[in-house]
Amino acid sequence: MIQSVRGTKDILPDAISNWHLIEDVFRNISTLFGYEELRTPIFEKTEVFSRSIGETTDIVNKEMYTFTDRSGESLTLRPEMTAAIARSILQNSLLDAGTSLRIWYFGPLFRYERPQKGRFRQFYQYGAECIGSPNPESDAEVIFLAHQLFKSSGIGNYKLLINSLGSDENRLAYRNVLIKYFTSVKSKLSEDSLFRLENNPLRILDSKDEQDRYVIASAPQIIECLNPESKNHFDSVLSNLDASSIDYEISPRLVRGLDYYNHTVFEFQHSSLGAQDSFGGGGRYNGLFSQLGGKPTPAIGFALGVERMLLILENNQTEKQATNKTDVYIVTHTHAQSQFAQILANKLRGRNLKITTDLNRRSVKSQMREANRLGAKYTVIIGENEVLSGNYMIKNMSNGEQVECELDRIMEYEFNIF
Ligand code: HAM
Repeated sequence: MIQSVRGTKDILPDAISNWHLIEDVFRNISTLFGYEELRTPIFEKTEVFSRSIGETTDIVNKEMYTFTDRSGESLTLRPEMTAAIARSILQNSLLDAGTSLRIWYFGPLFRYERPQKGRFRQFYQYGAECIGSPNPESDAEVIFLAHQLFKSSGIGNYKLLINSLGSDENRLAYRNVLIKYFTSVKSKLSEDSLFRLENNPLRILDSKDEQDRYVIASAPQIIECLNPESKNHFDSVLSNLDASSIDYEISPRLVRGLDYYNHTVFEFQHSSLGAQDSFGGGGRYNGLFSQLGGKPTPAIGFALGVERMLLILENNQTEKQATNKTDVYIVTHTHAQSQFAQILANKLRGRNLKITTDLNRRSVKSQMREANRLGAKYTVIIGENEVLSGNYMIKNMSNGEQVECELDRIMEYEFNIF
């Protein structure tokens, strides 16, 4: 039998209700904050990602699904959305000067990572991007939005880690400080980090290697390289969070896995997730639009890993809520009544009731069993006599009560489905 690709999974009908729940929260809360949905294609020209995420990041270096199409063009299945959203905003001239554009998105992404719990090769993200404001109130707004999304979907007890990478100049100064420090402890670094030291020393701070982590714990902090302007920006973001009672923890070596960030970076962690405890993250990326050929445009945003959010929710859910898949099951004595059953079913669906009929010509007994399995609140039983007399039996499945009802009255019958 052909199996699905490693690191991908089917979202089965039994699991879909939590997805629908969380997708409703995404749509409703984003709208409350004035964010509009933008959908971009699942693949882009490779340079959209290689130019913006950074050539020396793990994503670009090791994880992209890149292929050449039949015309010889290099294309990539999107490994993240921010660059694609920026490309679309530029291409469609969506941003008016001096204003803010608020965008949200939801969809599948692709990264060739080693699959494990909460880590897939195809996974879903919800994200929000606030484009056009350099001011700390926009940093605070996106964090408020994330906070409200967690609250509305029932995710509590999470940790918000936050740091500032400062301006490009501050980053450059920090880079030199890091080169000095890591060169002095070079013999203790992993092979990957030795490569990073040559090419992009900031990336060492993002290493998951245990030996590297030990060395990183004593590395200089970027806060020491921030100029007063960057420091002010960061302080204002924190004071906005304080004013709204949002808890956070300053994480002085948080750099995140993408190169386009400057100033504020942040991450959401949940202890119930185990090794992959980060279920969302984001930051400011004031240089991304110019990297993609646009005017310099300040922006900030974040993305949430939907599978990881659902894992947190599943860990919280003590028992699976029973969902009824049908309200009324129409039982037929023989298939001679099936055409009639379908007419009735279509009429009742017009009343917004979930209706199921038998398609396998089963016995009355097994249709009743099926009605139970689907959680039907009522059955309507149709036999030859019923068709001849025009009177049908409605059975309330929870208390067993049966009433005889004429066809016209079935259409008005008060089915108590709650
Ligand atoms: P990211 O940290 O690469 O950021 O991804 C955001 C979230 O996506 C992660 O925190 C995680 O929950 C989820 N995620 C990432 N990789 C996987 C995977 N292989 N399997 C399952 N879930 C995964 C970004 O993508 C940035 N574009 C966020 C952003 C938006 N920054 C500014 N705006």
